[in-house]
Order: sequence, then structure tokens, then C-alpha cells
Amino acid sequence: MSFLEELSRRRTFGIISHPDAGKTTLTEKLLLFGGAIQVAGAVKSNKIKRSATSDFMEIERQRGISVATSVMAFDYRNLKINILDTPGHKDFAEDTYRTLTAVDSVITVIDVAKGVEEQTEKLVEVCRMRNTPIIVFINKLDREGKDAFDLLDEIEQKLKLKVCPLSWPVGMGQRFQGVYNRYEKKLVLFRPHGKQEEEDVIEITDLSDPELDKRVGERAAAELRDDANVLEEVYPAFDREDYLEGRVSPVFFGSAVNNFGVRELLDCFVEIAPQPLPRHTEERLVLPNEEKFSGFVFKIHANMDPKHRDRIAFLRICSGRFQRNVNYLHVRQARQMKFSNPTSFMADKKTVVDEAYPGDVVGLYDSGNFKIGDTITEGESLHFKGIPSFSPEQFRYVNNADPLKTKQLNKGLEELMDEGVAQLFTREISGRKIVGTVGALQFDVIQYRLQHEYGAACTYEPLNLYKAFWVSCDDDKALKEFLDRRKRDMARDKYGNLVFLAESAWALQMAKENHGKVEFHLTSEY
Ligand code: G4P
Repeated sequence: MSFLEELSRRRTFGIISHPDAGKTTLTEKLLLFGGAIQVAGAVKSNKIKRSATSDFMEIERQRGISVATSVMAFDYRNLKINILDTPGHKDFAEDTYRTLTAVDSVITVIDVAKGVEEQTEKLVEVCRMRNTPIIVFINKLDREGKDAFDLLDEIEQKLKLKVCPLSWPVGMGQRFQGVYNRYEKKLVLFRPHGKQEEEDVIEITDLSDPELDKRVGERAAAELRDDANVLEEVYPAFDREDYLEGRVSPVFFGSAVNNFGVRELLDCFVEIAPQPLPRHTEERLVLPNEEKFSGFVFKIHANMDPKHRDRIAFLRICSGRFQRNVNYLHVRQARQMKFSNPTSFMADKKTVVDEAYPGDVVGLYDSGNFKIGDTITEGESLHFKGIPSFSPEQFRYVNNADPLKTKQLNKGLEELMDEGVAQLFTREISGRKIVGTVGALQFDVIQYRLQHEYGAACTYEPLNLYKAFWVSCDDDKALKEFLDRRKRDMARDKYGNLVFLAESAWALQMAKENHGKVEFHLTSEY
């Protein structure tokens, strides 16, 4: 197959949701369709069990298993589909944010009973920053849940997505009879446990067709007709361009555990989802069909097992063809590197890959050469953009508990931050170091790893902060005035960028009011 054929058959996406909405179940059903796994239950391991929330070693162990499901690839209708796994555990939200920089589109799963939940809101916000195309799958229609129209309103309000329902439920819970696929103009009857037969899919191009009444009963048919009229009036017809630009999100209804509505979702996905998209670098826009290879590291997984203390850097291919054992430029280190064992992971299988194409992700065994965001190319000095740091939500001062190991502590902290475990800030006035994380778990991970990998010891001191804001200002005088007035709240991130540490939402509000020319950003790239 030619390079361009390989490129145009890639579809790389992530599934995001609040825990328990059904992400794992949906992933599994998609993989079953693609023949990538043969039995249900094979990807359960990518889910960190709820019972383990306070035991970070147990979570790390499970996370170790989840490396195997970092990228799940399968073929479907001649396309190569890459699902990038996003950890559902909220303490690893930053891992998920970064993974979202490596996808070209997203499917978000929403529980019909719970509606839009907190984690989904945060993740969709990250997608919106990059106008990532999003498909919504409303799950668990076999249970009673919210009214479908109310849910669409909730999605529009909370997720700030314009929606276009491409399927519509006929009943719900006990009365759930199936969905009407507005995209393909077909009625699909619900059979529990995936027992769908061909005759359960009925072509109904015109909803006034009496066949509809015959199949779902007069009452349900009348309701569907009414709903369809409202849908026609309220929601615009589907426009693929709008979807690709992130302006509108198609919505599907189904039940993942019953394997219902999943094939419709997948069939539509393969038709509309984007192939590998161009990526911005500081220097220029990189097109996927460029001959020369380029890619970036979006995730680093460190194995905490002392017997196998290796790291795997995950590289998204952005352009050209990546080949095993060929010399490439590690741009930040300005040196050539070649990779003898680039690996793809699938369920519990690891495979060495000889070549990979834009949209693919390969795992590179790493002994400490990579940082999140590193670029590798065929020679050109490029720096991929769009891999920002996000404001942490928990902060603690970090103290050196063993003065004889200061060097080790500093080295350890620096390397762990490069890996993306947490973020380090240094106070402007006191020079004190602050660790910021999304989840409390990371504090334990850092302490443990500093001790076991670097022989350094640290203690923490509580610090009550709301969020960290990267600041910018076009007016030097206004910036100086702000910095003079708020010196005590200022810090630098590891790249030396200025950060305002807001103690509360109110403190931020005051800073905004008093310093109108200063801009406050929740991410390091704005
Ligand atoms: P997550 O990855 O988003 O966290 O969710 P996951 O797929 O693990 O699903 C969470 C729970 O919801 C699971 O039940 C799963 O079986 C159930 N579920 C998924 N899809 C549907 C659906 O369409 N309808 C219904 N009724 N339930 C669904 P569990 O009891 O927590 O786990 P398990 O013992 O079934 O694995």
C-alpha cells in the first residue's frame, strides 16, 4: 500500500467520559467489531478499579497493565482505527488531557441517567480548546434516564457543544424499543445482550410509513413522529464540515453493554471522522502527507517495578513514515537517535513495529531521554505546539527531608516533572518549591519514587491555593505594576514562565479587576 493510502486509512481518536458512564464497555464492543479481541472482558484491565482509590501502588500496578491498552488498533471496513486510551481515574486527568493532544477526534460517552458529569465537562473543555471534532454517545438506554430533549439541552449548556442528533430513542428503560437512525433512515429494534438480527434493522425513509406503527406500536410511533418534527425544527441538518471544525457534535443513543447502537456509531464514525490532521509547530504547519517523518511525545509511562525500571515514551506520528532502526533527530537534544524496538501494544500482546504512519502511536523504550512534548524528526528543527500544561488543582510545598541528598532531590523532581507526573513552581520571593497536581495520589507517587529511584527524601506542607494562572500582558508598565503589587503570589513554572497563584476564585477576580490589562490563562499555551 502506498504512503498516501496508508495515511488516508488512519482514524485516531479517544473515548472520554466520567467514570462509570461506559467507556470501557464501549471500547470493548468496538474492538469486538474490529476483531481485535475475541472475548468480552479483554480490556477490562484498562480500568482502575474503584476499590483501589487510596492505594497508589495498587493503582500503579493496574496502570502498568493499562500500558497494554494505551493504543488499541483494529481494522474496520478497510480503515485502521487507533483508539487512544484515556485513564478514567480523575487523579490521572492530566495524562488524559495530554492524550487528547494526540487524537484527531473524540467520542464522549454520557450516562442517560446521570447526564453530563464533572469529568466529562473538563475533558470536553480541553477538546474545545483545539476544536477537536466530538461525537456524543448517550449510553444505558436500557435503563430509565433523563428525557432525551432535556439531555440535549444539558449537553449544549454544560459542554457548550451544538448538537445534531443522528439517532433518536424509541422509549427508554423498560419501554426501550430501539432507535431511529436519522442518518441512515433506519429503525433499529432493541434486542438485549447484542442479539441483533438482520430483520431488526428496517429501512423507514418516511416516518409516516405504517410499518413503523407495526414495529413499535401506535403510541411509540406517534411519539417518534412528534419528536422527529421537533428535531427537524430545532436542530440543523447534519453538516460534516461543521463537525470537522468542531462546531457541531452528532449524537447517538444506545446501550454499550447490550452492544446496541454501537455498530451505527462505528459506521457513522468511519464515514465522518477525520483522517490524521495537520499539526502546528512553532515554526510552521506540518501536513500529514509530507514525505519526511515527524512526531511528538505526548505521554511517558514509568514502570515502578524496581526489577523493570524502564520507561515508555508514546510517540504520535504526525507526518511521513516512521521506520525502525533509522536515525532521527531528537530536536531538544540536537542529536541523532534510532529505535530498535518501537512497540505497539494490543490487549496483552506487544509487537515490534517496523514502520508506522501519521495517526499511529508507537511506544519507545526510554532510559530518560524524553520529556513530554519532545519532537523527533527526519532532520528539521520543529517544535510541536498544543501540548500545554494545565493548572493543577492541588498544591503543596515540598521540603527537603535529607540535606545530604539535595542534588538527588532536585534531579528527581526535575525528571519526574519532565515525565508529567506533576508540575513544579518556584515562588518568586522565597524561592520555595511547590508541587501542583490534579489528584492527591501523585503526591504519594512522587515521594515514593524520589526515595526508591533517586535516594532522596521529601516532606510536604499544606498550601491552600485555588488554581495557577499563566499570565501575559502586552503593556510592560501594567505588567510591572501587577508584579510589584502581587509579588507574594507570583511563581515561575519549570520553563521560567510567570504564574499567578490564586488563593481563591475571589482573589483571581480581584486581580482581574485591579489589573485589567493582564490576562490570566489556565493553560501554559494560550
Ligand atoms: P467506564 O469505563 O466509563 O468507567 O465504565 P464501564 O464501561 O466500566 O461501565 C460501568 C458500568 O456500567 C459497568 O457495570 C457496565 O457493565 C455498565 N454499563 C455499561 N454500558 C451499559 C449499558 O448500556 N446499560 C447498562 N444498564 N449498564 C451499562 P458494573 O456493574 O460497574 O461493572 P461490571 O461488573 O458489569 O463490569
